[in-house]
Amino acid sequence: MPDVLVLPGDGIGTEITPEAVKVLQAVVKGRSTSLNFNYGLIGGAAIDEAGKALPDETLAAAQAADAILMGSVGGPKWDTLPAGERPELGGLLKIRKALGLYANIRPVKMSPMLVDASTLRPEVVKDVDLVVLRELTGGLYFGEKGRKTDPASAYDILIYSEEEIRRIVELGFQMAGKRRGKLCSVDKANVLESSRFWREISSEMAKDYPDVELTHMYVDNAAMQLIRQPNQFDVIVTENMFGDILTDLASMLGGSIGMMPSASLNGTKGLYEPSHGSAPDIAGQNIANPLATILSGALMLRYSFDMEEEAQMIERAVEAVLADGYRTPDLAKPGDKVLGTREMGNAVVEALGS
Ligand code: IPM
Ligand code: MG
Repeated sequence: MPDVLVLPGDGIGTEITPEAVKVLQAVVKGRSTSLNFNYGLIGGAAIDEAGKALPDETLAAAQAADAILMGSVGGPKWDTLPAGERPELGGLLKIRKALGLYANIRPVKMSPMLVDASTLRPEVVKDVDLVVLRELTGGLYFGEKGRKTDPASAYDILIYSEEEIRRIVELGFQMAGKRRGKLCSVDKANVLESSRFWREISSEMAKDYPDVELTHMYVDNAAMQLIRQPNQFDVIVTENMFGDILTDLASMLGGSIGMMPSASLNGTKGLYEPSHGSAPDIAGQNIANPLATILSGALMLRYSFDMEEEAQMIERAVEAVLADGYRTPDLAKPGDKVLGTREMGNAVVEALGS
């Protein structure tokens, strides 16, 4: 029986992960594969209970698990700690690096039910169906960083090896090949040497994928094009920080960041988490949207356990609940039926059979 390690983390993480577990348990019930859930500490919760954001025990459990379901980390309580000890760097970035989860898949698909929830005009967002592939263990977030004196200054180094670029771009070509055959590599090659290197390598790789059309776009232009005409994109592949920024932006193309799941893969194992953060401002009130985490559970079934049918059951159940007019507050408009976090989880479970 596959082992899933659940790491709820902080803030709304502790509210949204139980809903995803509930849905996963319901969808595999009576199927040939059942899932075994174990729990661990990460982030601020781990700092408080075990003294550091990624306890050795958690890392060992993650290494042993078949897949990991994570909530979110961070909060004002831990913001004053030294950077390396904070939930973000010392917990989340550390587990990504330790497990070698270099490929972060963030799909954005506009649900017909949510076209009006986006802050963008319906005709702009109605057909959006794209995937951002974000490099997750290199680049600016993992390069050497530090401070200097005289004059006081700070630096973060952006460095990519050829191998790091190849493996993520290769996945981009493969994904685009299975979708609409369009891969857009996003960089800042008019300024950055690392981007020129990225562009050289990806252009050379394109020869091996004659069925995929490779284009290149500067990251500033990509931000504008994503808002201007998002349906021009199929698969976007990009550096760690560019991907971090562009995926928050792109989440609004799917109605709300509360809808955007993610999968972080290393070729054999996956960590699944919503693309959003721990939202301390709304934590503990049963109002957070659990759908991004529930949809991350669907990605787990798809990518870690080859359970495509069950993954689609979850995705259809989410659509069905939205079609019935149910919304969490982040998505609600006047007249919608507003549900809390737990109630939304229950609604998805009920819709599974539909
Ligand atoms: C994300 C988050 C994280 C990141 C933070 C919490 C460190 O923003 O997953 O996008 O920057 O990767
Ligand atoms: Mg982010």
